[in-house]
This record gives sequence, structure tokens and C-alpha cells, in this order.
Amino acid sequence: MKQPFLPFARPSIDEQSIAAVAEVLKSGQLASGPKVAAFEAALVAYLGGDRQVRVMTSATAGLEMALEVAGIGFGDEVIVPAMSFAASANVIARLRAKPVFVDIDLYTRNIDLNRVPAAITPKTKAIMPVHFAGLPVDMDALYGLAAAHELRVVEDAAHAIGSQYKGKPIGSFGDLVVFSFHPNKNMTTLEGGAISTGDARAAELLEQYRFHGIKRNAFGEVDVMFPGAKSNLTDVAAQIGIDQLRRLDGFNARRRELAHRYFEALQGFTGVVLPARGDAGHSWHMFQVLIDFAARRMTRPEFQKRMADRGIGIGVHYPSIPSLKFYREAGYRDEDTPVAARVGRETVTLPLFPAMTDEDVLRVVDALKAVLKHAVVASTV
Ligand SMILES: Cc1ncc(COP(=O)(O)O)c(C=O)c1O
Repeated sequence: MKQPFLPFARPSIDEQSIAAVAEVLKSGQLASGPKVAAFEAALVAYLGGDRQVRVMTSATAGLEMALEVAGIGFGDEVIVPAMSFAASANVIARLRAKPVFVDIDLYTRNIDLNRVPAAITPKTKAIMPVHFAGLPVDMDALYGLAAAHELRVVEDAAHAIGSQYKGKPIGSFGDLVVFSFHPNKNMTTLEGGAISTGDARAAELLEQYRFHGIKRNAFGEVDVMFPGAKSNLTDVAAQIGIDQLRRLDGFNARRRELAHRYFEALQGFTGVVLPARGDAGHSWHMFQVLIDFAARRMTRPEFQKRMADRGIGIGVHYPSIPSLKFYREAGYRDEDTPVAARVGRETVTLPLFPAMTDEDVLRVVDALKAVLKHAVVASTV
């Protein structure tokens, strides 16, 4: 019997959540209201620590606001890994600041913090690491560097809701920590994002940045402090977030089990480069292996097609940022960050989402081995 197509990611929305959303839809309160406040309170309780959380329409919107709150603007330099989704650098460029790309580690896929000092100049104002695929960066080293060089830190934690560093949730400490709730992420609000900060003034500014720059006085009268954005979350989305947050630790526990199954099934297979295993704090947003497509004389789209023919969806996260047109034309060179360039060429994302079974993992690995075996044979004929 033909098995159903296995996508590389799939959100899990349960009946309880659908019923709760229906109630919100019937309530008449659809824009930001009590559910947004409740979702923010739930995130504060989940993260722990003495934190303020504000939610918004996406991590992209959140990263841009966080940079603005940190005072980043024209001509400032912000250090960012060369391997991430383009949004990580786009938000810097949109503020007319300059992204300074630093290379990554081949296995953790995280920014190589040893290379950061050489990238710091008198114009450097902030560092924006990415907890890639849910594996936290070395936070002691990161905040040590930031303190030594008086840099703000905007953590791109788009992949890292539920991740922990030394037993502490990402977002329970740190300067400005930005999560994504896009449908592919470990929890979703359809689209959405959140910022966690320990700074009450920053939280107040974020409220203004996300809603027209509006501040109300003690009488409820509106004033506009600056031209803010329009990036507030709806109560419908917030209700989904409340339900997803309730299930997040369960989702992430299953993600860890599935990652473990991948490591078992791929043990001894030399056809791919595996990611770092991390520890129990890794939330396994994605499981990615590297394949030397050039040596196999196979393109990545061909590989994706052959896997799709076997019913397996394969993602690509991501091309390196300096390889993208806008950045190439701005003068960045992929060769300057060679590890990110290699990962950008060779990375493939295997299916990983909580509803997957252990058998699904074996199906993926069998297909992977069959497709790669075929490619080696083809290239030697
Ligand atoms: C590392 C990283 N940063 C930022 C974003 C942007 O997130 P959003 O889609 O919520 O704007 C993404 C989205 O995939 C991402 O992967």
C-alpha cells in the first residue's frame, strides 16, 4: 500500500484548540485583547525568571523592533551568523545598519563565537546570534563577549522556544530574546512572534513599536511618541498560542526522541554529515544533514525530487545569507564565511514533527540511503 506523503514539518492543532478558537471568534473580540494579555502572561510563567514578554505578528517584526529598542540605526554594525534565514540580516539592513557576517561551526551550525572578536569594530553595537535548529549557543561565552565589548544582544530564538541552556529556558534570561511562532516552528500561532526581556522600559517601548507608537496617558487619551509599526497579534492567534504552549514540552520531548531515532538509524552511515547532538536542552526544531552533492554529481533539487518520489518531503534551511542576491550585490562574499557557504550548499532538512512515528524515521533513512546509494553508482559509471 502506498504510504502517505511525509512533509518535513507539520503543526499539531488539536480539537480543544479549534473549539477555543471558535469561542474567541464568537466573542466579538478579535484584535488584541484579553487573549493577548493571557498569552503574554502564560509565556512569562513558562519562561520563568523576572521577565516581560510582548507578542507580535512575527519574529521578523520582533527582531526589527528589538534592534530599534536597542538603539540600532544608520551606520551601526550588527554581528550575525552567515547561516540563518535571511530575516536575521534583513532586519538589520532595513534599519540602514550593516550586517557583519561571522562564520558558523560545521556541526552545531551556530555562530562561531571564537571568530566574533575579530569582527568587532568601533561601530559594532550589537550581536545577534541564532540558536540554530533549537541548539542554544554558548550563552556564558556570548554574554561574556557582549559585556567585554559593551554590546547589546538580540537573540534570534526563532527556532528555540522550549530550548534550555544549563537547565534554564532560552528567554528566561538575556537582553532581548525573540521567538517565532510560524507554523513550522515548535509551537505556532499561525504567524506570530514574541520578545522576552528583563527590562521594563524596553517592554513599554515594544508595546509602542508594535502599535503605531501609541502611548495612552492616565485618562486613556492617545498620544503618538514616534511612527510605530502595526504588528500586534490578534486574540484568535493568541488563543492558539495559549493552547500550543500547554503542549510545547510534550512536543519537544517527542522531537528529542525522534532526533535520537535518527542518530540511531544513521549510525555508521558515512554518506552524510550529522548535526551536533547537543544535550537535553536542544529542542530539535529541525534535523539537518549535509550531503556533498557536487561529489555525487547530483543537484539538491534532484535529491529532493527523488526523495519526494519515495514520499518524503525535504526542506532546505538555508542558503547562506551572503550567497543571496541582495547581499552579493552589497559586496559580501560567500567565500569569507566558508563553513556557512558549505552548509548552505549541502544542507537538507529531514522530516521532524511531533506526530511522526518511529517507523516514519526509518522510512526517511531507508529512502535517504537508497537515493544516495543510487547517486554514487550513477556518478561512477
Ligand atoms: C532564524 C530565523 N530568524 C527569523 C525568522 C523569522 O521568523 P518569522 O517567520 O516569525 O518572521 C525565521 C523564520 O523561519 C528564522 O528561521
